[in-house]
Amino acid sequence: MIKRVAIFVSGGGSNMRVLVEDMIGDHPARPCVVVSNNPAAGGIAWAKTQNIPTIVVDHRPYGADRAAFEAALTQALAPHAPDIICLAGFMRKLTQGFTDAWAGRMINIHPSLLPKYKGLNTHARALEAGDTAHGCTVHEVTAALDDGPILGQASIAIEDRDTPDTLAARILVQEHRLYPQVLRRFAAGDRSPLFLQG
Ligand code: GAR
Repeated sequence: MIKRVAIFVSGGGSNMRVLVEDMIGDHPARPCVVVSNNPAAGGIAWAKTQNIPTIVVDHRPYGADRAAFEAALTQALAPHAPDIICLAGFMRKLTQGFTDAWAGRMINIHPSLLPKYKGLNTHARALEAGDTAHGCTVHEVTAALDDGPILGQASIAIEDRDTPDTLAARILVQEHRLYPQVLRRFAAGDRSPLFLQG
């Protein structure tokens, strides 16, 4: 059966876009809704042009009450009946209540070779550490931040002239290769990790 995929974004949503564009033909999944915590997210505007349903739940009125924010998300999501959630640049931490409810059905892309550099500023941290390789990871989402089972990684060699900005741009290209391939496999029930070289 074709899987229904909800994609969560906070910004431009370039990863969301490549996922949507890949979900055609014999792909085992289709997008059912694009979700954002940010009313101004470019990804929401693009999804509308594609006639994909959208949900915006602004996190700001909820302040520190993450559980109430997530309850509103869950309620808005229900009519779309997703089988899988893809986090694609969704910049809100999720509580254990939400991650447990979606255990084994929610995946995320992160711009580092996990378990290195969980959290933010991954490119600057890789440079500061003098690493020779860097990349991105798709993983299952669990309660601990950027920590679930790894489903795929794409790596590149760091060059002498790299800055955090050049690395971010080069890694984003790899994200766009990796995430669609991993989602295809995941939606088909294949959780064996995929490793790509840039
Ligand atoms: C991507 O680089 C993604 O890996 C990162 O945000 C960017 C979103 O770009 N995600 C995280 O840092 C999550 N911790 P996009 O909106 O163009 O897909």
